[in-house]
Amino acid sequence: MTKGSSSLTPIVKRLQGKVAVITGGASGIGETTARLFARHGAKMTSAITCKEIGSDESISFVHCDVTRELDVQRAVDTAIAKHGKLDTMFKNAGISGNMDPRIQSLGRDDFRKVFDVNVFGGFLGAKHAARVMIPAKRGSILFTSSIVSVCSAEVPHVYTASKHAVVGLTKNLCVELGKYGIRVNCIPPFLVPTPMMRNLLGMMDEKAAQEVVSESANLKEVMLGTEDVAEAAVYLGSDESKYVTGLNLVVDGGYHTTNPTIGNALKNMFS
Ligand SMILES: NC(=O)c1ccc[n+]([C@@H]2O[C@H](COP(=O)([O-])OP(=O)(O)OC[C@H]3O[C@@H](n4cnc5c(N)ncnc54)[C@H](O)[C@@H]3O)[C@@H](O)[C@H]2O)c1
Repeated sequence: MTKGSSSLTPIVKRLQGKVAVITGGASGIGETTARLFARHGAKMTSAITCKEIGSDESISFVHCDVTRELDVQRAVDTAIAKHGKLDTMFKNAGISGNMDPRIQSLGRDDFRKVFDVNVFGGFLGAKHAARVMIPAKRGSILFTSSIVSVCSAEVPHVYTASKHAVVGLTKNLCVELGKYGIRVNCIPPFLVPTPMMRNLLGMMDEKAAQEVVSESANLKEVMLGTEDVAEAAVYLGSDESKYVTGLNLVVDGGYHTTNPTIGNALKNMFS
């Protein structure tokens, strides 16, 4: 098996008959998840910001800036108009903001921008999903959080704070919406070499980014790919997870359980 490979061909269609909206579906984790959901039999509305709006059999595209309530409302209403229901809302769109991790470099505008997309956008996704899921008394709401919600990394403070807020939103929503049969979970991935991650590391070269990921990973001989996050989303969107809610489902190869500081100091001492 090659590093980072995993089969995208499902044996069983685990989302047959389900309808989902995925935000940030034009690239990276969102794009892979939209395709995997479709392979598992789901009908998809992929909510994207970019120009290439098209459609194929299972995936229709709608323009959606997650910070704009009318856009989010329209994305949900499009799914309902096309397919009559909404089973999963995956609010995955996110940004890292100003890449400089030093506190002095962070201003109010950066803070607002990142919280607007990562947190307020998540709130809007949940709000409009709940609007149609509450009467149906079922549904699965998902967010992409981040490994920085469970352990420290030298990334911009606002990004870390926003991803902790996503976990808080998940837990609070799971309590309010649990009474309507709606589950709310999030997925915090370790580094995945997507355009956003390469941007965050200041590396536009994909190979160099992959090397950083392999070198820093706890779990070796495999490479985290967008498909691994997509598989977690399929699980949380499917009935296999029907009693799972309020979870931050870590997909990090055990990274958050490690602290390589002492090992690195010893290596440096003896090298
Ligand atoms: N790649 C990683 O290493 C990593 C790790 C942890 C968490 N994440 C999270 O995964 C999610 C997906 O990121 P990715 O790595 O696939 O990067 P990506 O850049 O490929 O995807 C992010 C998507 O969000 C969209 N987006 C940005 N602002 C938006 C807005 N206002 N409205 C609607 N869409 C908007 C972009 O167009 C893009 O399609 C993000 O929430 C990110 O924080 C990524």
